Amino acid sequence: MSRVVVTGRIPKPGLDILRRDGHEVVAWGSEEQQPREQLLEQVRGADALLTLLTEQVDAELLDAAGEQLQVVANVAVGHNNIDVPVCRERGVVATNTPGVLTDATADIAMALILMASRRLGEGERVIRSGTPWQWGMFYLLGSGLQHKTLGVVGLGGIGAATARRARAFGMNVVYSSRSQAPRELELELGAHRVDMDTLLATSDVISLHCPYTSSTHHLLSSEEFAAMKRTAYVVNTARGPVVDEAALVEALKAGEIAGAGLDVFEDEPAVHPGLLECENAVLVPHLGSATIETRTAMATLAADNAVAVLAGREPPTPIR
Ligand code: GLV
Ligand code: GLV
Repeated sequence: MSRVVVTGRIPKPGLDILRRDGHEVVAWGSEEQQPREQLLEQVRGADALLTLLTEQVDAELLDAAGEQLQVVANVAVGHNNIDVPVCRERGVVATNTPGVLTDATADIAMALILMASRRLGEGERVIRSGTPWQWGMFYLLGSGLQHKTLGVVGLGGIGAATARRARAFGMNVVYSSRSQAPRELELELGAHRVDMDTLLATSDVISLHCPYTSSTHHLLSSEEFAAMKRTAYVVNTARGPVVDEAALVEALKAGEIAGAGLDVFEDEPAVHPGLLECENAVLVPHLGSATIETRTAMATLAADNAVAVLAGREPPTPIR
């Protein structure tokens, strides 16, 4: 029997998989994040860890767990919270949950594109604040998406799913990516690959779908905002630090870009106070994968990954 430690609260079907395999399951039962000290205590003696994106999986945590640890199964596709090289050094397999949250996250990206370009957040605030309003020919005008260009940064599963939605709204698609997408995908999306400078200069909406790594830190900063159209919108459903938040505030305030939609923040859960002052920023609290169906699928995939490694099998979705 192995000891599986689940560091945060996850949907029950995930726990069921772990228990069905006969493991001893220790789960933190609260929605609130476990204090680090307590987490370090909880993981002691674990053979497998199921971790949330709010937890740093580093040498300290691996040390606290002990040498018997075999697998860290992140209940997230993004794995910037995990020090993968350190896991590798110690022979600990790290896994994530790609695929199962692709549609949910693309839905939120599309929602933010619509909210920002049609000023829905502003409109909502008008009504809720009790401010008098009246239909007017020029009242809260936004911009249409049809025949505009979506620039997708990172054409992985989520980027492609967002592009597919944007196409349905009549947008054209360009993308920048580390590698060329398969020809069939480019044909399906009518998308072509451009360099980042071209993407910045020609896109009406720029949507981020790259992982957060040292090379995507502040990928969008002052220089990039200055290179965008003044009518451009920036949407981030990837990871907060891909955008230089202070520079974004400057760009929004100076009218260098038209607006932004953010699901993730540089110093989550803190939000740059300047953003709160920007009417042209739509701000939502990291809801990309937040559907019952998706969270359940993430939990069961993470559990499948953990039980596979504990059984000496190849896990379905290892981090490469
Ligand atoms: C959510 O942000 C994830 O990476 O799964
Ligand atoms: C990962 O990028 C995914 O699309 O699931």
